[in-house]
Amino acid sequence: MYRAGIVTLSDKGAAGEREDKSGAVIKEILESAGYEVVAQSLLPDEGEALKAELIRLSDQVQCDLVLTTGGTGFSRRDVTPEATMAVAERNAPGIAEAIRAYSMTVTKRAMLSRGVSVIRGGTLIINLPGSPKAVRESLEYVLDTLPHGLDILS
Ligand code: MTE
Repeated sequence: MYRAGIVTLSDKGAAGEREDKSGAVIKEILESAGYEVVAQSLLPDEGEALKAELIRLSDQVQCDLVLTTGGTGFSRRDVTPEATMAVAERNAPGIAEAIRAYSMTVTKRAMLSRGVSVIRGGTLIINLPGSPKAVRESLEYVLDTLPHGLDILS
């Protein structure tokens, strides 16, 4: 069973002003696919806090997979891709490319997501967009291909 961590980036969510529906969607999809969700957090759109959480989930919790949601767009507060790249050891761009390519068949606004996919140690980290709809579309498209990559990584 793969160990997964989920991180939601949302200023409103972290302030208690908005329910974390996207994190819940990720959890439901991962658990249906047989993953064990070992950590789930809700952070404001702050690069330093996200970097620290990604390092913790990779190095200490030793997640096989970490999915983030939110903070991938063009707002000045959207810093998820930069924080993710800052903790990356290797790039794994194909997953983010696949998500954008598929998502473009749903909405041309998919080109506005700057999400990245990277590897740190034995952990694959993937940025998903913020809305529950975008999360479902993105994750369901790549889900069945992830185990092959995770097996090679472990
Ligand atoms: N991808 C999918 N599959 N479906 C969507 O509805 N919305 C887009 C894009 N990617 C979308 C999507 C929009 S409108 C934006 S602004 C970007 O993701 C960034 O979203 P974020 O800032 O919430 O991360």
